[in-house]
This record gives sequence, C-alpha cells and structure tokens, in this order.
Amino acid sequence: MSTPDPIGVGIDALGVYLPRYVLPLERLAAARDVPAEKITVGLGAHAMAVTPPWEDTVTLAVNAAAPLFARGEVRRDEIGLLVLGTETAVDHAKPASIFVHELLGLPASCRTFEVKHACYGGTAGVLLAADWVRSPASRGRKALVLASDIARYELGSSAEFTQGAGAAAMVVSAAPRLLRLDPATGVHASSVWDFWRPLDRREALVDGKFSLDCYLDALTGALADWRTARNGDGAGPLLERFAAFLYHTPFPKMAHKAHARLVAGEDGDADARAHAFERSYAERVDPWLALARQSGNTYTASLWLALAWMAEQHASALEERDVALFSYGSGSCAEFFTGRFPTGSAAAAGAIGARALLAGRREVDVAEYEALLRDGPRGGTPPAGYGGVCHLAEVRDHKRVYRSEAWAA
Ligand code: HMG
Repeated sequence: MSTPDPIGVGIDALGVYLPRYVLPLERLAAARDVPAEKITVGLGAHAMAVTPPWEDTVTLAVNAAAPLFARGEVRRDEIGLLVLGTETAVDHAKPASIFVHELLGLPASCRTFEVKHACYGGTAGVLLAADWVRSPASRGRKALVLASDIARYELGSSAEFTQGAGAAAMVVSAAPRLLRLDPATGVHASSVWDFWRPLDRREALVDGKFSLDCYLDALTGALADWRTARNGDGAGPLLERFAAFLYHTPFPKMAHKAHARLVAGEDGDADARAHAFERSYAERVDPWLALARQSGNTYTASLWLALAWMAEQHASALEERDVALFSYGSGSCAEFFTGRFPTGSAAAAGAIGARALLAGRREVDVAEYEALLRDGPRGGTPPAGYGGVCHLAEVRDHKRVYRSEAWAA
C-alpha cells in the first residue's frame, strides 16, 4: 500500500440533511414584537429548520449519510473510521456515533467515536480524519465524518432567532473527488465564556455580543497561526488568493463581520480596503450563505452545509481553485484551513442534493414551533415521504429506539 500524498487527501463525497419543518422568521419576529428587518437585514436570517418529534442528532446524521451509500459513492466495507461531531449529544456516556454505526451497517472493525467542541466538533473530526487517512493506521480505508446538531436557545431570548438544525456527512479519502485539504492549518484555542450548555439544560446559555468578539478574535488568531504554518508561503494578500471564503455561520451577518475582519488585516489604505471588501464579499462570501439563511445555525454542520451549497451550485467555476474555510467553536477553538477543488469536482458535486433540501419543507406556525421545542425529540411516526430513511420511534427506559427503512446497499 502506497503512502497517500499529504496534500492530496480530502473530501471525496458530501451528504446533507435538514429536517422538513421550517419556521419563517418573520412569523417569529411578529410574535416577539421585534421588527422583521432586524432579523432579515440585521442578522441576515430568513428561516430556521425545526425538528419534528421523530428526529434527533442521530437521525439527522444517518439521514445525511445514507444517500452516500445508496448512490454508491462509498461502500460500507471501505469505512475504517467514523467520527460524529456534535454538541447536542443524546446521552452523556453512550455516543451518538455508535447508534449511527449500527443504523448505517458499518463494519465492527470501524473505529467509532463522538467529538465535542461546540460548533468546531465537525471540523475537528474532518481534519483529524484527514490525518488518519494520511497515516498507516488507515490501511487505505476511508473515514466517514458526521456533523449533526439541533441549535436551541431560551424562548423569547434574542438568541432564539439564531436556532436551527441539520447535518452533513463527509467521506474523507486519499483520492478525493470534491476537495483536497491542505494539512497546513492555523489554530486558535482560548477558554472563554461566550456560549455554554450545562449538563442539565437543553437550551444553550450565551453572552451574545461577547461571542461575536470571541469569534472575530479567534479568526485573527487562527489567521496568524496559519501564516506561520505556511512557512513563508502564508505572507501576502489573501483576497485574490482564494476563490471563496467559507465561514462558520451562526447567522449570515456573522460571515459579513468575519470577512470584514479578514480584510482589515490586508495591506492598503482604508478606502482601498473598503472597496475590496464590498466586491470580495459579494463575489466570494455571500453566494454560499443561501442555505444558512433558510436553515439557521446548524452548529457543527454549518461550515459543511455551506461547502455543500457552494460545491453543488458553483463547483464548475471553482475547479483547480483554492478556497479558505474558517471554523469557530465557542469556548473556544477555531481553525483556518484551505482546500482545492480538483478537476472533475463539479461532476462529483452535482449529486449532493443541497438545493433539494429546501423544497417540500412544511412551514410551522409559532404555536406549533413552541410545542415542538417544549416536547423535544421524544419519538414518533413520520409521515410517508418525510425525507429521511431513519427516525426515532420512542425512548423507553431511557433507551432510544430507532427505526430505519430499507435503503440500497
Ligand atoms: P441582538 O440583541 O438581536 O443584537 O442579538 P443587536 O441588537 O446587536 O442586533 C443585531 C443586528 O441587527 C445589529 O447589526 C443591529 O444594528 C441590527 P450590526 O450592528 O451587528 O451589524 N438591527 C437592525 N437592522 C435592521 N433593521 C432594524 C434593526 N434593529 C437592529 N430595525 C445576537 C444578536 C447574535 C447577539 C443574538 O442573536 C445571539 O446571542 N445569538 C446567539 C449567539 C451567536 O450566534 N453568536 C455568534 C458568534 S459565536 C458562534 O458562532 C458559536 C455558536 O455557533 C455556538 C457554538 O460554537 O457552538 C453560537
């Protein structure tokens, strides 16, 4: 078995999933007596995904990954590592990943575990999986990394408008068809109380305005470390170097603020930077935010859903171009890293199904949304054609009972 080219390793296939209930945020704004423009313009958010009683972190993850097997993009016996990044785990001890392992029918020889570091957990999983693929431990096998979350805050709080739910599934391999990942990355870790969720709470606690500063300072720190990691090649302007910038998106306006922070570190006078920012944001950031505007914060999955949208809608213009990605997890750990779309990636991206996620969702009203959040994922029977292959049937004696439909091997 030959050693993989370190800069050749990356994402071979991407699966995505959103629950099929959606709350238009103008409805929530009206109910909370908040001007709609504060949400649609001030935060840039239009709708948030809401989970029905039969969906939880496990089912979202399985429903994101199952199509990859059904479409024949990867075989079960090729997977030697399964990592699930989430901050909304279903048990304090039994990891969500082992339910997913069973429901997807993965081999017993597949190393399986869950990772938590707020929204950074999915990125931690992908970058760790890439290093595993590069190492002899992988024995030429592939890794499956899942990022799955249900974002919850206190009803009536200003953070309520930044909830959401969704999942992404990434197959990491030595010969990726979608995105090659450069192993030189920049990290910034720092213990801060910007966002946390005590063990007995379903809703996160947050110091909202402070969390924005923490995010932006982590971007500055991760960028500085990335320049060091690039060993001289990290010097110079970034704006023209990357065809796209993807940021963790708790709400779309955050990506705007992040890009402004990145541009503030570029050379040139203030006027030149302001002009460059407007053009660069419009061409290289805003187009990838469409899914986030309609799903809300999907925590660990946010960055990867943005990548999925970008790859599916725009990959033909991005082949052999470099893109920059920034992941932030409160608490905090952040990473700035880069990748390149290989020749042929547009064809591989065509099957992702990101746009299809937005079709056929059922709008809920505020009363229904409040009832769904109050009861949480307690199990139930989904209607036919609800979009997934797996659901939570019930929770009995603190044990979760999942049911999955048959899907192609
Ligand atoms: P808020 O109280 O709604 O904030 O909370 P605001 O009063 O500052 O208003 C927001 C924006 O709307 C402002 O724009 C206002 O000017 C504007 P900005 O000045 O920032 O550009 N505005 C209006 N615009 C148009 N028409 C109007 C109007 N009124 C005001 N009439 C906050 C916002 C984000 C703080 C809150 O929703 C929150 O706490 N959310 C949760 C925390 C969060 O998302 N933090 C993001 C960074 S941390 C992160 O990303 C990690 C995270 O994903 C968790 C993890 O890692 O696991 C959260």
